[in-house]
Amino acid sequence: MENNLVYRRKGIILAGGLGSRLFPITSVVSKQLLPVYDKPMIFYPLSTLMLSGIRDILIITTEKDNNLFRDLFGNGNQLGISIKYQIQSEPRGIAEAFIIAEKFIDQEPVALILGDNLFYGDGIIDLLSKANKNKNSTIFAYQVKNPKRYGVVEFDKNSKVISIKEKPKKPKTNFAITGLYYYDNSVVEKAKQILPSKRGELEISDLNSLYLKENTLNVELFGRGMAWLDTGTFDSLNEASAFIKTIENRQGLKVGCPEEVAWRKGWIRNQDLVALAKPLAKSGYGEYLISLLD
Ligand code: DAU
Repeated sequence: MENNLVYRRKGIILAGGLGSRLFPITSVVSKQLLPVYDKPMIFYPLSTLMLSGIRDILIITTEKDNNLFRDLFGNGNQLGISIKYQIQSEPRGIAEAFIIAEKFIDQEPVALILGDNLFYGDGIIDLLSKANKNKNSTIFAYQVKNPKRYGVVEFDKNSKVISIKEKPKKPKTNFAITGLYYYDNSVVEKAKQILPSKRGELEISDLNSLYLKENTLNVELFGRGMAWLDTGTFDSLNEASAFIKTIENRQGLKVGCPEEVAWRKGWIRNQDLVALAKPLAKSGYGEYLISLLD
């Protein structure tokens, strides 16, 4: 069993929003429940948090979709973790997650992952575990072709980060901030200081800028060997599915499989894995879980 840290970082998956860039697919169902190849999208960010060693998780959804997520994961005990649920009534910005989750966070450090972000690559477990073990704040930047869609980092001559701008018209670099953030326990208080932006949202880039001003933000670069995909448009959703299909079929290993992560971490026993596999036998997913025991 892991986790002999003196604090226990909480984890939040933000899975609200209207998904309007995917209408009509998301007219009646949450984007984060759509399939990315062979599993619901939210399996990927859940696995990412679990891989970094986080076991206390809050899923924030719209009011309409909350019960669907509860039906999918229950209290999380079957995965050796705890999952709680809260509602964001309107998409008032990513940073609002910390205000909604204040009680859940309970003055511990906390990680936030966007429910539509997918991370894959060699070495990622070490990077994320390191961020989790550091009780200060760490975020990640990744080179992208079209930085205008993201929070964008600017560096000085010594590669020190000097600014983070949300969706700049003229990006200073091609480095985007990914949707995975590890913060210290001052995050709730900082989120409360932010004012809504022109588009009416509490911007995560404004929160990051507060940390930057304090000089307490660690910005790590994900190298080009890493894949960071988001799934917010028809094309990116399709590309993410194709990517996962290619990797899984080549290796015979699944990406973003929370049952497997729980078992490899020693959070559930062999017989628990078998029990999880049984109802999934027909799709091949269950067969995969059983095959891990060989
Ligand atoms: O994907 C990384 C980017 O995510 C960062 O580089 C940006 O700094 C950050 O602002 C964000 O940009 P997006 O334009 O992708 O954010 P979007 O509004 O699409 O929201 C991302 C996800 O979070 C989406 O699945 C819906 C969910 N969400 C968003 C907002 C604003 C919520 O659940 N509630 C919200 O209030």
